[in-house]
Amino acid sequence: MAHSAALLQDRLGTHRCVVVLGSGWAPVAEQLGEVAATESYASVGLAAPGVPGHSATARSVDVDGVPTLVLAGRVHLYEGHGADAVCHSVRAAVRSGCSTVVLTNAAGSLRPTLPVGRPVLISDHLNLTGASPMVGPPPPGDPADRFVDLVDLYAADRRAAVAAAVPGTPEGVYAGLLGGAYETPAEIRMLAAMGADLVGMSTVLEAVAARHLGATVVGVSLVTNLAAGLQDRVAHAEVLEVAGSSTDALVEVLRAAVATS
Ligand code: HPA
Repeated sequence: MAHSAALLQDRLGTHRCVVVLGSGWAPVAEQLGEVAATESYASVGLAAPGVPGHSATARSVDVDGVPTLVLAGRVHLYEGHGADAVCHSVRAAVRSGCSTVVLTNAAGSLRPTLPVGRPVLISDHLNLTGASPMVGPPPPGDPADRFVDLVDLYAADRRAAVAAAVPGTPEGVYAGLLGGAYETPAEIRMLAAMGADLVGMSTVLEAVAARHLGATVVGVSLVTNLAAGLQDRVAHAEVLEVAGSSTDALVEVLRAAVATS
């Protein structure tokens, strides 16, 4: 990770904020601001995702004056990676100097009040992946860092600032699952009973890892479909299509999120 952090700095410079673009969010990368430099993931030591809709490009972007590292694409547990691989790029970005981490994803909605095409601020999460980036030998340094505090994982002040800049932006609790398959209707009923508003296959591990390294975390889901049982079918092609036609709304919320950095 030290290697990737150094490569990111050497090739792309130092940034205040990192934005991770999830499924279908890639078109946003070019529209966030002026792109100063672009590198492939391979050239900065990051693993390339193997899922359609995820490119593998790291960019240095000036987002309204905030130097921002934009990582288009992430790897997932369901691709066969472990928690450390899933968190590698976010950890490298924080170690390279990013103090704010903005995580985006595509999600299914469990609430009629969170309709398809809507960007939603993540207010909290349920980590139901069965994995944790905190498994393994205790991290070096302060023993107090062994168990990271997640009470305010998705910074309330940053969420308020985004909602003030883009009025009406809703919030929801994101359930992160191992994935590889969409959920059954029975699983969605279970998740609703557990307090989930959104469901997806990413984000939760990266959020924990970023917070553990002291970064401030902002999460934004794009609702690409209603969850299983609330609509007829769930398909990845639809996820990408919705994301592609929601670009303007995504750019607006992301710029507001980066501006809080
Ligand atoms: N479930 C899980 N992950 C997803 C979904 C969903 O309905 N939509 C987009 N990513």
